[in-house]
Amino acid sequence: MSPGQNGGVETSTACLHNEAMQRRGRKDEGLASFHQPVSPSGRIHARTNSTFQARLEPPRMELAMRILVTGGAGYVGSTLVPMLLEQGHRVRVLDNLKFGGHGLLPCCSNRFFELVRGDVTDAAAVKSALDGVEAIIHLAAIVGYPACKKEPQLAQAVNVDGTANLLRLRKPDQRFVFASTGSIYGSIPDYVCNEDTPRSPITLYGETKATAEQMVLDAGNGIAYRFATAFGVSNRMRLDLMPNDFTYQAVKNRNLIVYEGGFKRTFVHVRDMARSFIFALERWDEVKDDVYNVGHETMNFTKEDVARKILEHVDYYLHFAEVGSDADQRNYEVSYEKIRKKGFETTVDLDRGISELVRAAKLIEFQNPFANV
Ligand SMILES: NC(=O)c1ccc[n+]([C@@H]2O[C@H](COP(=O)([O-])OP(=O)(O)OC[C@H]3O[C@@H](n4cnc5c(N)ncnc54)[C@H](O)[C@@H]3O)[C@@H](O)[C@H]2O)c1
Repeated sequence: MSPGQNGGVETSTACLHNEAMQRRGRKDEGLASFHQPVSPSGRIHARTNSTFQARLEPPRMELAMRILVTGGAGYVGSTLVPMLLEQGHRVRVLDNLKFGGHGLLPCCSNRFFELVRGDVTDAAAVKSALDGVEAIIHLAAIVGYPACKKEPQLAQAVNVDGTANLLRLRKPDQRFVFASTGSIYGSIPDYVCNEDTPRSPITLYGETKATAEQMVLDAGNGIAYRFATAFGVSNRMRLDLMPNDFTYQAVKNRNLIVYEGGFKRTFVHVRDMARSFIFALERWDEVKDDVYNVGHETMNFTKEDVARKILEHVDYYLHFAEVGSDADQRNYEVSYEKIRKKGFETTVDLDRGISELVRAAKLIEFQNPFANV
């Protein structure tokens, strides 16, 4: 959280390297590339003006945007950022690299990718990161109920105050897409939640997200996406998401004990989450100033359903027992009709997502620090 020397921003090694190159009189391929205009063919214009002037130039290709992704080094971001780059956008990531930056290594070959190592609670870092972007995708957060419970003050600071910083410092015409969560619905058994269902979070995570999403809607020129629980393989992998965890245990341990198997959850593949951000930016006038559940009704499953689906891919011992209770007491179904009517459909189902997870689980190894082998 300590501010660096660059207006409170600690720049990445890549950017420091660029500074060194500039000092030696060589061309800066970092910030300058981010700000360079694109021709309708998608080719970069030769940079004849200074970096400062280039910053002021608007993009010339209608759909290519300069986008700030906060928390872009995380599980969702490390799938989203490469996708945005592939679409021809310039992407700046503001992330404090809480979990490292390895998830973005595949982006480093793209000169339209820029990493700014900084914190969303640091106003100077945020102000600098917002410079010259047309859209903000705000992912940075303390994510999930266990992490928020462990560090409640940090959760409040990042999830609420960090969002407030971005909203206060952005210009009104900078589009703002906020990653909220279905956790804001809390526990509503036997009821299908839609966007008009009152928010009733039962965890600090849900509370901070509910507060932040209201701030986004009040500020205008923004949308809030209430995502289902993510799953699937990403460059920055998370094994604390239920289908990812279950699949990993099935592959590695060849057994899994499931309790509270009847609890319903709703899932969305991480690539579909990424696609939904692109969808929003492309259909901005049709979708802005509103809130949407993002997922699909066919992806509402019980924990038991998920465990049984994994059995179709992995031969393992599955046991149901009431040996514990999930601290995450969410138990709800969600309607995704609103975003579907706008034209967004998810594409990756549970079966495909699990088959990818099985392949990934074979690649992931943990060394027990107290074992010799
Ligand atoms: N993964 C899910 O199941 C899920 C579901 C619904 C919504 N969401 C939302 O999507 C977003 C991304 O989730 P994720 O799964 O990628 O989480 P993640 O924990 O993998 O990534 C969060 C990223 O934010 C960064 N970060 C944390 N605090 C920061 C700070 N103070 N300043 C700058 N960067 C900071 C971290 O370094 C990390 O790279 C979150 O806002 C989350 O609430 C996720």
